[in-house]
Amino acid sequence: MLFEVKNLTKNYNTPAQKFCALNKVNIQAEEGEIIVILGPSGSGKSTFLNIIGGLDTGYEGDVIVGGTNLRTLGNAALCEYRRRNIGFVFQFYNLIPNLTVRENVEVCSDISDKPLNIDEVLAAVGISDKSRSFPKELSGGQQQRVSIARAVVKNPRILLCDEPTGALDYASAKDTLKLLEHVNRQYGTTILIITHNPAIADMADTVITLRSGEITSIRRNAEKKQAEEIEW
Ligand SMILES: Nc1ncnc2c1ncn2[C@@H]1O[C@H](COP(=O)(O)OP(=O)(O)OP(=O)(O)O)[C@@H](O)[C@H]1O
Ligand SMILES: [Mg+2]
Repeated sequence: MLFEVKNLTKNYNTPAQKFCALNKVNIQAEEGEIIVILGPSGSGKSTFLNIIGGLDTGYEGDVIVGGTNLRTLGNAALCEYRRRNIGFVFQFYNLIPNLTVRENVEVCSDISDKPLNIDEVLAAVGISDKSRSFPKELSGGQQQRVSIARAVVKNPRILLCDEPTGALDYASAKDTLKLLEHVNRQYGTTILIITHNPAIADMADTVITLRSGEITSIRRNAEKKQAEEIEW
C-alpha cells in the first residue's frame, strides 16, 4: 500500500467560527494508481491534497505514506518528504516568470537526488521546441505542460494535481490528461487528480467523491478508459 489515511479530520478555527473541512476521512491507495477526487466547491478536496502533500500539518487522524506517519515528521523532515516524494501541479501553473521553460524544470530537477533527464521530460510533455521560451510566451495548455514537466522531473512517487485542466480549453485539457496518463504508465507515478469534471473519473482506477468534508463514495473502475476516449 502506498498511502493510508485514517480518520483524517481538519478543523479551521477562525475567530468567527469553527469549521470542519474534513470529517473522519478514510482512504487507502496502492502504488501506481490514478485516483480522481470529485466534489463540489468547498467540499475539502484541496485541503485533502495539501495534507497528503505535507503542506498542512494542523489535522487530526493519521496520514501514512510509504510506511511513514506524517504526524511524526518535524518541519525539516516534512520538507524532505515533499522533496523526495511529491510533485504538485496546480490549476494556474505557478511557473517562475523570469526563467525559461527549461530553467523552470531545471530548478526542480536540481533538488532531487534521482531526477529524470530534463530533455527527456520536456520531450515527453511535448514542449522541447519551447525550452528557451518564457512562460508569458506560451499558451495556457503549454504552460500546464511545463508545470507537469516541473513536477515530474523530480521523479516523485506521488503527483498531486489540483484542477490541472480547470483553466484549459477542451483540446488542451485532453492533452493534459493524456500526458498525466503517460506519466503514470511510463514512470509508475501514483497520481491524484482533483477535478470538477465527472467525465475525467472514467480514466481513474479509483474515484473518491467528497461532500462537506466527508467521503460519500469510493468507487473502483473495473475498466478504466484511456484519456483519449474520454468525452465531455
Ligand atoms: N484557511 C482557511 N480558513 C478557514 N476556512 C478554510 C480555510 N481554507 C479552506 N477553508 C474552508 O474549508 C472548506 C474546504 O476548502 P477546500 O479548499 O479544501 O475546498 P475545495 O473542495 O478544494 O473547493 P474548490 O473546488 O472550490 O477548490 C471550504 O469551505 C473553505 O471555506
Ligand atoms: Mg480546491
